[in-house]
Amino acid sequence: MAIAQNFVTSLSKSELYEQLAAQLSSLLAGERDLIANAANFSSLLFHSLPDVNWAGFYFAKDGELVLGPFQGQPACVRIKIGQGVCGAAAAKRETVIVPNVHEFPGHIACDSASNSEIVVPLLKDSHLIGLLDLDSPKLARFDREDAAGLEQLVRILLSSVSA
Ligand code: SME
Repeated sequence: MAIAQNFVTSLSKSELYEQLAAQLSSLLAGERDLIANAANFSSLLFHSLPDVNWAGFYFAKDGELVLGPFQGQPACVRIKIGQGVCGAAAAKRETVIVPNVHEFPGHIACDSASNSEIVVPLLKDSHLIGLLDLDSPKLARFDREDAAGLEQLVRILLSSVSA
């Protein structure tokens, strides 16, 4: 299945997220399996967003976060709630943007190339299902526009698997 190489075009950030929302909706249409849809979601983001070296999911299981589908270097499998950037976003149930991961207390380094990070929680009826995590080699790669765009994409994922 071909994925549009969005980053070679000159779209603004908001246009890029609008285009990704449309692509994601058609990519996930007709499938309700969370793992399958999370896997295609990670691939779409990894191949479409510029300056991203890791894109994937952790799922909440038995009080901790367990690695799910992703694209990028092999990553840490289990993360405790409250630990690292992922654990902080899980504890707060809010999107966390880290401009410089080396200054974040307790940051878990999975790929030494990563310098900035954004983590978006997956919430269903305020219950934490998991997290979307993106890493970048570029400092301050992610901003509020990325947060809004990624939160919209996460809503598309969650609605694709809900009954
Ligand atoms: N850096 C994350 C760990 C996951 S990896 O980036 C894929 C953290 O501090 O929680």
